[in-house]
Amino acid sequence: MPEILVEPARRLAGALEGKTARVGVIGLGYVGLPLLLEFDRAGYPVLGFDIDREKVARLQRGESYIAHIPATRIRGALEAGRFDATADFARLAEADAILICVPTPLTPQREPDLSYIEKTADAVAARLRPGQLVVLESTTYPGTTQEVVQPRLEATGLKVEEDFFLAFSPEREDPGNPQYSTRTIPKVVGGAGPQSAHLAESLYRGALDRVVRVSSTRAAEAVKILENTYRAVNIALVNELKVTFEPMGIDIWEVIEAAKTKPFGFAPFYPGPGLGGHCIPIDPFYLTWKAREYGLSTRFIELAGEINTGMPGHVVRRVASALNEDGKCLRGARILVLGVAYKRDVDDMRESPAVEIIELLQNAGAQVDYHDPHVPHLPAMRRHQIKLNSVPLDARLSAYDAALVVTDHTGVDYAAVGEAVPLVVDTRNAYGRGRPPRARVVKA
Ligand SMILES: NC(=O)c1ccc[n+]([C@@H]2O[C@H](COP(=O)([O-])OP(=O)(O)OC[C@H]3O[C@@H](n4cnc5c(N)ncnc54)[C@H](O)[C@@H]3O)[C@@H](O)[C@H]2O)c1
Repeated sequence: MPEILVEPARRLAGALEGKTARVGVIGLGYVGLPLLLEFDRAGYPVLGFDIDREKVARLQRGESYIAHIPATRIRGALEAGRFDATADFARLAEADAILICVPTPLTPQREPDLSYIEKTADAVAARLRPGQLVVLESTTYPGTTQEVVQPRLEATGLKVEEDFFLAFSPEREDPGNPQYSTRTIPKVVGGAGPQSAHLAESLYRGALDRVVRVSSTRAAEAVKILENTYRAVNIALVNELKVTFEPMGIDIWEVIEAAKTKPFGFAPFYPGPGLGGHCIPIDPFYLTWKAREYGLSTRFIELAGEINTGMPGHVVRRVASALNEDGKCLRGARILVLGVAYKRDVDDMRESPAVEIIELLQNAGAQVDYHDPHVPHLPAMRRHQIKLNSVPLDARLSAYDAALVVTDHTGVDYAAVGEAVPLVVDTRNAYGRGRPPRARVVKA
């Protein structure tokens, strides 16, 4: 322990060590709920907070609302007696460590919407007491923790590093990935000062396999932006190469498979129908906004955004030209979209390119149905109003002019679809793996 700790920090360090410190998590979504359960599993008393009373009620009944978190996990935590959830923010005073996992979307003008973080910071400030550690986990631009959260907490008269402690630790959740869990994914941590860094590191060490400490909250915030920008840019690169190779008769999937046999200097990324989810399409633009303050432009991010947002249009043009080759036109064509969640084997529709694709197809006059075992109804979304229910894969399959694979969930009977429809447009190489179907397959 290199740092000499002030008294409130020493007390908290002791409670963290003995696992008597109560860990509060604010925002019990895809990130917050698994994190809360991880601290519960590690033996800490935990208390979850959410403004959504329905989520709180479901947790208290021992139910789960996230597909990959089984209800038995919640019930087990309730039975062990250390787990509680509430919508009563007065109870923040009970928590020794408070982890903030609220949404960080973009405004309609594509600027950071920090309103959730601001509201949460104000709620924490209203009950802040000496000896509490506050960690922001929501993805955001470098500077947020100490420029947005810290002043709100210090407005109470308490001082960071003396009375309370503040850190940033980016979430690296990969929903639906069975290989890694919240516990096994290394956790990056940066503190507002050495006391905060030390406490945040001990907190996560108590529950997770590996903690990676960086020098500041800004560096920790930048780590997450780098990771997501790296993905956005590399996905854009393969999407651009896909479009470039198409008229040359080169299959990008075959090229990537061969390229990834190179044992160094190459990491495979795969093309698709456009970016989805809460992170990759959004987070890099947090940096773009912040960079403007320094008179800088983030050209890679802008270009990647441009290429990736052009993908739904590209896919729809491929569907139209493939139908045309069969002597059909898009207007009036019956099209079955396979998979609408933003990625394989999740039920999350946020920013899913499927929504735009369906809308573009409908606007062109196509009759669109979809099948997704994880999304029984297309929910109303901020910018889209599509009212569809998932259709079963049954005898009616043969009525479709084409199937369009947008998301390649496992467990979907692609072979049956490929036998029943005359044309498949495949954005995920779902038909590149098994026996070729009767349908003509066009990659897009
Ligand atoms: N989902 C992912 O895979 C992922 C991965 C890495 C990072 N992140 C980041 O983590 C953060 C949270 O994302 P998520 O996917 O868990 O979002 P989510 O929408 O699943 O969950 C957010 C939760 O916060 C609650 N909430 C909203 N405002 C609140 C408030 N003022 N007080 C208390 N609760 C409030 C919502 O009701 C919801 O339950 C975001 O910054 C996101 O960018 C997400």
